[in-house]
Amino acid sequence: MDITIGHNARQRRFDPLLADAPALDAADPAYLEAVDERGAAAGVARFAAFDAASPDAVWGALRRHELDLRVAGEDPAPALGRILDQWLQGLAERERPGDADSSARVNVPSRDIALVRALTERGFSPNGIRAVRPRPRGTAAAAPVLPIALDGGRVRIATVDDAPALGALDARLLALDAHFASVTERPGAAGMFAEAYRSRLRAAPDTTWVLERPGRITGFVHVMPDAASPEPGTLALADSGGQYLVVMYLDESERGSGTGAAFCEIAHALLDASGSPYTLLSYAVANPRSGPFWSRMGYRPIVTEWQRRPAVLAV
Ligand SMILES: CC(C)(COP(=O)(O)OP(=O)(O)OC[C@H]1O[C@@H](n2cnc3c(N)ncnc32)[C@H](O)[C@@H]1OP(=O)(O)O)[C@@H](O)C(=O)NCCC(=O)NCCS
Repeated sequence: MDITIGHNARQRRFDPLLADAPALDAADPAYLEAVDERGAAAGVARFAAFDAASPDAVWGALRRHELDLRVAGEDPAPALGRILDQWLQGLAERERPGDADSSARVNVPSRDIALVRALTERGFSPNGIRAVRPRPRGTAAAAPVLPIALDGGRVRIATVDDAPALGALDARLLALDAHFASVTERPGAAGMFAEAYRSRLRAAPDTTWVLERPGRITGFVHVMPDAASPEPGTLALADSGGQYLVVMYLDESERGSGTGAAFCEIAHALLDASGSPYTLLSYAVANPRSGPFWSRMGYRPIVTEWQRRPAVLAV
């Protein structure tokens, strides 16, 4: 059985919105493979280390192990279990048990539920969901004209001068999401975020919208082209040319009264009118607000990131 062909056939059956995966390099020293009568699994183990002061350090542990996975056949779960065990054995030799700045991650199609038990039985939990909202059919072509009134405030396009305020709000989102072990608070995050917004707002000035009350910004939505999305290692979509909703955040004072839904609808109307065929985003599975909110906004899971953090559990 050719694992890549089998993998792509299986994946298409579960989710036609995912792109076919390329073949893995079987000559790679980090290549793992297991085959039995009912299924097959292969993977290449990858590793990246980050300095605590680097901008990427906030996106998880400092030492990140990933398995680029392919599965094929009617029942690939036992084969998957075998390559997971080989991979984890290798990690046990490299990582300190209990080190929360080490992680092991695997991205799988959300709908391939046959793989779940092989992961949970080895201590992985669902960490992040990548969700997609295809552009609804029959969308009106006219974009809302900004600024636009919203619940006594106004929504306008962000400017470079908003970068420090956006950096500060994003640091609060980071602190919130850090509860879920998907990201990590690091010193200086707000300043690094502000710097990133400064350059993004210069490069793409019309893809960030703020909710403004007199004298302050109380929320924002920030998107960028999916092709420039900051998430390495995830599974690609079959379609291209969409937008990635990087952040939506509202101050506590704005939450729970429908403002978020209305703000999101404004952003969607702008994106739909721009012809973006889909919008993607990621959220933490354990964030109790995220799943319900984004599902109501028209998103559905496409890729689930499973994580063990620490990579080697303390015994
Ligand atoms: C997630 C977030 C953007 C949603 O915005 P929001 O304004 O709180 O969302 P809404 O008010 O539209 O919807 C949230 C709740 O308000 C309720 N609601 C909606 N309209 C309402 C109205 N007119 N009156 C009263 N309640 C209303 C909704 O039913 C929902 O209630 P439920 O969760 O109990 O079912 C915002 O809460 C936020 O920024 N949170 C912090 C960051 C975060 O957790 N982000 C997760 C997404 S990655």
